Amino acid sequence: MTRVAATRASLQGRHPVAAVDERELADDPIAQLESWLADARRAVPLPEAMTLATSTPDGRPSGRVVLLRGLDERGLVFFTNRESRKGEELRANPRAAVVLHWWELGRQVRAEGAVEQVSAEESEAYWRTRPLASRLAAWASPQSRPLASRAELEARVAEQAARFGDGDVPLPPHWGGYRLLPATFEFWTHRDDRLHDRVRYVRAGGGWRRERLAP
Ligand SMILES: Cc1cc2nc3c(=O)[nH]c(=O)nc-3n(C[C@H](O)[C@H](O)[C@H](O)COP(=O)(O)O)c2cc1C
Repeated sequence: MTRVAATRASLQGRHPVAAVDERELADDPIAQLESWLADARRAVPLPEAMTLATSTPDGRPSGRVVLLRGLDERGLVFFTNRESRKGEELRANPRAAVVLHWWELGRQVRAEGAVEQVSAEESEAYWRTRPLASRLAAWASPQSRPLASRAELEARVAEQAARFGDGDVPLPPHWGGYRLLPATFEFWTHRDDRLHDRVRYVRAGGGWRRERLAP
């Protein structure tokens, strides 16, 4: 058996989650995502890891993993360096797609929509929860720019540590949160027969319209 075939075989029957019956899904996809995240927190080491796709205005896409750090009726929040590649792409084209995948649960969630910066107060509140080393790293790292060496990065961290000393390490002007304002969601559940369940939510009027998609 090839390695791929062996992996496929080991996947068979390993997903404990039952099929998605639309009637069991919440009317509100944010509530549904909160419910699946709660399940994932009991099953997966890093349930908030999500792939974030952005693109240039002329349609060159890029993707990377970020952490989902906030979720409410407005949307999904993540934090980053606003001068990073993703930050530059979001400045020029403020739209994104995210994907959360929990293999252990056989579930995937997709969301797409416009992106806005969160308020300075919201970035500040999250910043205060970050450990000192993470705060110094955010000051020291010119995220997504070329570095001459690892030593250069370490020297930059030492420089920032010396600069702030025992004092406060404030929120850098180039760092903060973004909120994806979802226009669509999709909830996907694995089925061993490959006829996976897919339910899409689309904003309609003040609420959401739901439809089943072919796998
Ligand atoms: C599990 C995981 C979580 C991550 N979380 C974040 C995050 O919350 N914010 C962030 O800026 N980068 C995060 N990263 C690093 C990004 O994937 C990426 O390397 C970085 O943001 C630079 O991306 P860019 O050059 O496309 O802007 C994470 C990476 C991994 C693997």
